[in-house]
Amino acid sequence: NEEKLQIVKKHIRNYNDFPKKGIMFWDVFSVLKEPKIFHLLKEVLVDTVKKIDPPIECIAALDARGFLFGSLLSLEFNVPFVPIRKKGKLPGCTFRASYSKEYGEDTLEVQIGSIKKGQKLLIIDDLLATGGTLACSSQLAKQCGAEDITYLVVLELEDLKGRELISDHKLISLIKL
Ligand code: PRP
Repeated sequence: NEEKLQIVKKHIRNYNDFPKKGIMFWDVFSVLKEPKIFHLLKEVLVDTVKKIDPPIECIAALDARGFLFGSLLSLEFNVPFVPIRKKGKLPGCTFRASYSKEYGEDTLEVQIGSIKKGQKLLIIDDLLATGGTLACSSQLAKQCGAEDITYLVVLELEDLKGRELISDHKLISLIKL
């Protein structure tokens, strides 16, 4: 896996001053532009999730780039895919929670009943920066009754120490930047 991730890492483009001045933006979409590289990343993701014990029973993915990886893993492991979306996008009754992130504030929602009480849950996103997004999503998952949560991200910006904010559950990050 390490060798594959070294190759993937080389294909992640970064942009200075995006979306705001002073922010370095790491663009995971640059991997998806090259199917061979995306395949490598998929193989590592699948292998990583296979090793989670006890096995996951549900995948919650973050709007928007978490969806790219969450949906392919949900098919691979035959478990439900649950979207955690920015406010106002999900129909039906939802739980809602707000958070602050590297470049602003936002509110996330999850549909009530989409994560079942006691389910072993994987929460996936493309990137961990300050940790606000994942902390907020675990708050929502807990409102749904999730107890056993594992976080998985493709990229971790270690300097921002997001890991400390989500130390309540196990975090797996594939590539550290
Ligand atoms: C980015 C990224 C993570 C989040 C991480 O998403 O995709 O979801 O920020 O930041 P944090 O650890 O500081 O919370 P963004 O909020 O830009 O939304 P998008 O995926 O819809 O572009």
